Amino acid sequence: MKLNYKKTIGLGVVILITLLVWIKWDIWFYNPPEPLYSPSANPGRIMLTWSGNSLNSRDVTWEGDTSTHVGFLQLSNVSIAGDTILYTTNSKIIKTAGGASAFFKVQIKALKEGETYRYRVANGKIWSDWAQFKIAKSADASYSFLYFGDVQDTINGVSGNLFQQAVEKRPNAAFMMFIGDMIERPHDAYWAEWFRSGGNLFRTIPVIATPGNHEYYKSLIGKLDPRWMAHFSFPQNGPKNFLGRACYWDYQNTRYISIDSNGIQSIPSALEQRSWLKSVLEASHQRWIVVMMHHPPYSTSRGHNYFFLRALFKPLIDRYNVDLVISGHDHAYGRALHIENKILNNKQGAAYVVAHASPKFYEIGFSDKMDKLASNTPSYQLFDVSNDSIRFEAYTRNGICFDGFTIRKDANGLRTVKEPSHPNNSDYLKPTELFLRKSSKKEIEKFYRELEAWEKSKKNL
Ligand SMILES: [Fe+2]
Repeated sequence: MKLNYKKTIGLGVVILITLLVWIKWDIWFYNPPEPLYSPSANPGRIMLTWSGNSLNSRDVTWEGDTSTHVGFLQLSNVSIAGDTILYTTNSKIIKTAGGASAFFKVQIKALKEGETYRYRVANGKIWSDWAQFKIAKSADASYSFLYFGDVQDTINGVSGNLFQQAVEKRPNAAFMMFIGDMIERPHDAYWAEWFRSGGNLFRTIPVIATPGNHEYYKSLIGKLDPRWMAHFSFPQNGPKNFLGRACYWDYQNTRYISIDSNGIQSIPSALEQRSWLKSVLEASHQRWIVVMMHHPPYSTSRGHNYFFLRALFKPLIDRYNVDLVISGHDHAYGRALHIENKILNNKQGAAYVVAHASPKFYEIGFSDKMDKLASNTPSYQLFDVSNDSIRFEAYTRNGICFDGFTIRKDANGLRTVKEPSHPNNSDYLKPTELFLRKSSKKEIEKFYRELEAWEKSKKNL
C-alpha cells in the first residue's frame, strides 16, 4: 500500500514536470531559425570600446563580408597635421545558420590624455567615413555617462531616438552603458537594427555592456551569440569561463563591474563569478564601485524574483560597500535607495536601479523595496559622477524627467542619499494594455489594490 502511494506521487511529479516542460518549451528552448543574410562588402557596425587603460587606449571593431581577409584602421591626432598611423588586422569569420561575416578588431594604444583623434576603417580597399573621439585627462575627476536598459527593439524601431535624446543632454558623455538584451534575438537582422539605432554614436562614444538572455541561444545550457564577443572588445580580466563578458573597467575614479547573470546556469558558474567578483571588489581602491548585471537582484515586474542573485551577490555588495547596482531585464522601471546594508549597518546601502529602453512593457510588481516604479514607457538615464557625488536622472521617451537622486560620499566613505521631488506618476503605474487584455477581472482588481497600497506606503518619498 505504502509502495503504491509512493509510486503515485512519483508518477504525479513526472507528469507535472513533463507538462511544465511542454508548456514552457518555446520559452526555454526554442530558437527561431535565423533567416539568411548577406553582409555588405563595406565596413559597417563600427563600435568603439576600450579593453586597456581608458586614458591611453581605445578598441575598434567592425564587420563586413567574407571576401576581405585584411582590415585597416587609419588614425590621426586632430591637433598634429599629417600625423597618421595605419593599423592592419586579419578578419575573424563567424558562421551562423543564416550566413557568415568577417569581424575585424584593432586596439589603439599610446593615445594621449586630453587629445582628440580621428579614425576610419577599411575592409581591403573600401574605407568607412571618418569618426572622432576624445581621450579624457586623468585630472578630470568629473564625467557623465548614459545608461540604457534592454533595448530589444523591433525591426525599424525608434530606440535610436532615445539614444539621441540622451546624447543631446550629455553631449560629452564618457561612455554609453548597455545592460543586456540590446537585441530581440541572436539574428543578424536584430544586430543590424541595434547598430542602425546607434548610428554614428557607437563610433564616437565608447560602449560598455553586460550580456542579457536575448544575446544567448536558448538550450539546456545557453550559449552566448559569438557575435556579441566580436562586437564588444572588452577587458579580458574576468573569470576564466566568462572572459570578455564578465569583466571590469576602471574609468577615472570608478570601477564598473559586469556580471554575466545569464551565464549563471549551474552552481560552478555561480561560484566562479561570485569568487571573481569578491576578488575584484577586494582589490578596488576606486572612489566609487558600480556593479552591472542584466537580471536585477530586486525585481520590478510582476511575478519575478531573483532570490538566487541576492543570495549570491548581496553579501558582497554590502561587505564591499558597492555604491550602485544597475540592471535591466524586467521591462519596468524601478529604483531603490533604502535597501539596508546588512553588514555595514551604520552605512547607507547600495542604490539599485532597473530600467529598459524597449517598446515591450511588463506589469509592475509592487515591491516594498522600490521607492519609484514606472511602466508604459521606455526610458534613458544619465549619471554625472564626481569625487563627491553621483547624480542620477531618468527620462521618459518624451524627455520628461520622472526620477532622480544624488548619492554623496564624505571623506570617510560614508554615503548619504538625496531624492529630489519627482512624485510617482500614476500614468506610469497603470497596468499595460496587454495585461488588461489577458487578465481576469479578479487579477486586474488585485493589481489596482496593490497599486493603491504601494502608492500609499510611498507617499512620503
Ligand atoms: Fe532579459
